[in-house]
Order: sequence, then structure tokens, then C-alpha cells
Amino acid sequence: MLRVLVMVSGGGTNLQAIIDAVANGDVTNTEIVGVISNNYDVFALERAAKAGIEGVVVSPKDYPSRADFNKGLLDKVNSFNPDLIVLAGFLVVIPEEMIEAYENKIINIHPSLIPSFCGTGYYGLKVHEAALERGVKLTGATVHYVDKGTDTGPIIMQKAVEVKEGDTPKMLQQRVMEEAEWKILPAAINMIANEK
Ligand code: GAR
Repeated sequence: MLRVLVMVSGGGTNLQAIIDAVANGDVTNTEIVGVISNNYDVFALERAAKAGIEGVVVSPKDYPSRADFNKGLLDKVNSFNPDLIVLAGFLVVIPEEMIEAYENKIINIHPSLIPSFCGTGYYGLKVHEAALERGVKLTGATVHYVDKGTDTGPIIMQKAVEVKEGDTPKMLQQRVMEEAEWKILPAAINMIANEK
């Protein structure tokens, strides 16, 4: 069984997609051992609780410095003894010590077709605002391994999504989630869990 730790910052719809896929057998050989959030009061933690998964908060606000937070975060991650760490809308830069400790064991979902609309400053709705501003006709989502750069690690899976006339950033975000993110993130975990 692959021990998966999911890290979140907000609503947790990608977390929910993983929980559902494990429950319905689309993802096999996988146990979600915990959820870490950097924010209190996020709906992702309610989703974890409802699924009977331990959820904890590691917030920078509770530490005197960034270095202390980074250490606290790594200690908490280690305590779950994960085989795979899934960044599912985790909007904190992963500390270098953690990337070194979990080389090739951290994956991230990004709401664009990397290398478009990625890197520093491109997260959440901003990605879709940029895509609409540029006038692209196709966008999508990418699952990739996390290395020391921002959105630069090896790509595992991608899925394209059409941009439609009259799309707002919110409409496009929703379509990219439904048609791409909620599918390829569980699929990538299943692939890793089954060593495909
Ligand atoms: C998702 O769209 C995810 O791709 C994005 O944050 C959202 C989280 O939603 N991540 C990034 O932008 C990372 N650069 P969720 O909490 O409902 O899963």
C-alpha cells in the first residue's frame, strides 16, 4: 500500500477527488494517511474529517520564523511516514530540506499546461486570468514531480481543456478542475501506486 500524505491550503476539491477515487476503486494500492493544511478553517479539513482521515494544521503564523516553520512542517510530514506527498492546491513554497528528503516522492497539480502559465506568481485563479488575457484556445492541467524550481519538475500527466467564448476566470477554473484536475491527479497516484 502506498502511504499518501495530501497537503492543502483551501477548498480541497482535489483532495476530495483523491478520497473518492480511493473509495470507489479507481485508485488502488493506496492509503491516504493524513492531510496537512497551512491554513486553519479550510473546507479541505472538513473533507478529511468526514472521510476519517487525520487532518492537521501547520501554519507559519504559529512559528517565530520561516526557518522554524520549515522545520515544523518537515517534522509533521515525517511523522506520517509517507511514500508519496501530494500537493493538492498547497500554496506554500516547499522548503528545500523537504525536497531533498523526499526526492521524487512529491507531486503537484498545476492548473495549466506546463510550461505555459506556471512559475512564481501563477497559482489558482491567476493562472486562468493570464490564460484568458493571452487569448489561448486550449489550456488544461499538469501533474508533475516537485523539484527545487517552481513548476519545473518532470511532467507525469497532462490533460487539455478547451477555452470557450465568454469564459470568465472562474468558469474556466471550474472546467479545468472538472475535466482535467480531478481526473489526472487520482490517475497519476494510481500509476505511482501500481508502479506503471
Ligand atoms: C487547484 O486548481 C490547483 O490546481 C491549484 O489550486 C487549486 C486548489 O483547489 N494549484 C495551484 O495553482 C498550484 N500552483 P482545491 O483546494 O479545490 O483542490
